Amino acid sequence: MTNKSSCLVSAIFSVLLVQLLFSPSSSLQPLAFDDSSVYETFLQCLESYLSPHDQISNLVFTSTNSSYTSVLQAYKRNARFNSDLKPLIIVTPTSIPHVQYAVLCTRRIGYRLRIRSGGHDFEGLSYVSDSPFFLIDMSNLRSIEVNIETNSAWVQSGAILGEVYYAIWEKSKVHGFPAGVCPTVAVGGHFSGGGYGNMMRKFGLSVDHIVDAQIVDANGDLLDRKSMGEGLFWAIRGGGGASFGIVISYKIELVEVPETVTVFQVESNPDEGLADFVYRWQVVAPTTSNDLFMRLHFSHPITTQLEQGSNGTASFQVSIQALYLGKADDVVSLLSKDFPELGLKRQDCTEMSWIESVLWYASLNYRSSPKVLLDRKVVRSPNDTNSAKRKSDFVVNPVSREGLGDILKRVAGQLQFSMAFSPHGGEMSEIPASSSPFPHRAGNLYKIEYVGNWNEAGEKAERAVMTQLRRMYSFMAPLVSKNPRRAYLNYRDLDIGKMSHGKGYRSYEEGKVYGMKYFHGNFDRLVKVKTEVDPANFFRDEQSIPTLPMKL
Ligand SMILES: Cc1cc2nc3c(=O)[nH]c(=O)nc-3n(C[C@H](O)[C@H](O)[C@H](O)COP(=O)(O)OP(=O)(O)OC[C@H]3O[C@@H](n4cnc5c(N)ncnc54)[C@H](O)[C@@H]3O)c2cc1C
Ligand SMILES: *[C@@H]1O[C@H](CO)[C@@H](O)[C@H](O)[C@H]1NC(C)=O
Ligand SMILES: *[C@@H]1O[C@H](CO)[C@@H](O)[C@H](O)[C@H]1NC(C)=O
Ligand SMILES: *[C@@H]1O[C@H](CO)[C@@H](O)[C@H](O)[C@H]1NC(C)=O
Repeated sequence: MTNKSSCLVSAIFSVLLVQLLFSPSSSLQPLAFDDSSVYETFLQCLESYLSPHDQISNLVFTSTNSSYTSVLQAYKRNARFNSDLKPLIIVTPTSIPHVQYAVLCTRRIGYRLRIRSGGHDFEGLSYVSDSPFFLIDMSNLRSIEVNIETNSAWVQSGAILGEVYYAIWEKSKVHGFPAGVCPTVAVGGHFSGGGYGNMMRKFGLSVDHIVDAQIVDANGDLLDRKSMGEGLFWAIRGGGGASFGIVISYKIELVEVPETVTVFQVESNPDEGLADFVYRWQVVAPTTSNDLFMRLHFSHPITTQLEQGSNGTASFQVSIQALYLGKADDVVSLLSKDFPELGLKRQDCTEMSWIESVLWYASLNYRSSPKVLLDRKVVRSPNDTNSAKRKSDFVVNPVSREGLGDILKRVAGQLQFSMAFSPHGGEMSEIPASSSPFPHRAGNLYKIEYVGNWNEAGEKAERAVMTQLRRMYSFMAPLVSKNPRRAYLNYRDLDIGKMSHGKGYRSYEEGKVYGMKYFHGNFDRLVKVKTEVDPANFFRDEQSIPTLPMKL
């Protein structure tokens, strides 16, 4: 057994004891300041709350501090937003009361507050704003407390998924948790926005296994499930945390995983007709055994293309990357019946432990120590030099062979972007669409992820990828969900809200444009909860849940 990493072990028991020492209503009136005194005023406000052993210099950063830039960039996982307006102040709380004080002092000054846990937001909403703002960075609040006896764990929002998986593995080799495949994505954004991964056909989403939570609301109050009530508890399991408050932690229920799981990655044979292959995948992947998750990738190995001087079509590939919660022989025999065209052989499969499959799926060396999951700069995770844009769709009716052929032709002709199809079905179809704000349940065959990744700086490179992505998205309109066309919140996409960065406040009607796409029949309930818990709309961004106008 390896040593425990110190960032994982601190307990979080005493937090419910914290009470604020004053009446919030009297201190929430915004005061008028000129910009130069904002920092001073904020510090004074914080200092009035802090205890003598709090080190304010490790808690508050402004642009004059030498570590301001490194603190800001550390969890910026997208280079698209490097030149946007930066926060006047960054707060890096190391305890829950710090979070409460930050809310109260920010509100008192009348600034916006952006909340960042892992910084993976695809539109940078956790660290970008066009009006003056402060940033609260939750990365120090990352304790994980696993209790195998009760099959549960308390995880703080600054913890990354790799740390969560590792902490579970340390305690048990037959427990796991259904969440995303990128180890550096953090709990705060991922769980509050849904959280899907390669066990979703067996167990559903992360939000389907959350049993309690702690949040700091717009009054600076610390609430748990009981004190926040079922409405707010429902909302922060898929409705996005940033509209409602600052999530401190979630209590999750672990799931049982077999001692041996099987993975395989197989490329389609280009001679066999890609469209037929994808068509068969579309029939099988959403309907086969719940133990099997087969994700479909379209890919261009770019170096090969350049070397061969081809136009991209020759080396274009469709591949399946799969996790089976069982033995290799069983998945081979399952697919020889369900999907003979795949031609899966025993030697294509690798049996391993569940934690090894986490590494494998993240393209890490699965033979290396799982300790690599504690590395917050883990290989292949994006940083502030990589640019990315995502869009999403849900497919509800099977796409015809001809339609799939057209999709393939289009993707093959574009080198700058790709697509991935993640099958639904299984447990995803059993969970009612209203049980959490995530509405894309029964009736959805698979989710499409439009993937744009690039490393060249500058607007020209960005425009090229954006154009390709948006053209493909338009082309897809007749083939995917309609009225309205649906989207996945965690693949945040400002295009679907008809407004880009800025423009601040959203009316109910404006919010409905993206809100119906992300949440469909759950949107109005989210608005109701939002209006109850944050009527002044303190927690808001370009795609937050709007409030209803106050009744007079
Ligand atoms: C490389 C990569 C791989 C991904 N893989 C998957 C995947 O497999 N499955 C999947 O479902 N998604 C995936 N995603 C999407 C990911 O789930 C979302 O981007 C998620 O919101 C990121 O959470 P974060 O805390 O890292 O990001 P952040 O940018 O810190 O936060 C995202 C949003 O949540 C808010 N937020 C963050 N913390 C809190 C908090 N404590 N309280 C309230 N609000 C908060 C932010 O304000 C922002 O609006 C991936 C993203 C990337 C970049
Ligand atoms: C940060 O800057 C402020 C104001 O310039 C200064 O008072 C404070 O000591 C600095 N903190 C650190 C850690 O440098
Ligand atoms: C690209 O490759 C495909 C398949 O090899 C071929 O049919 C097509 O004519 C090529 N296009 C160009 C512009 O070379
Ligand atoms: C960022 O990622 C690139 C690979 O895309 C890598 O070369 C670079 O070293 C990374 N930078 C940091 C600071 O980790």
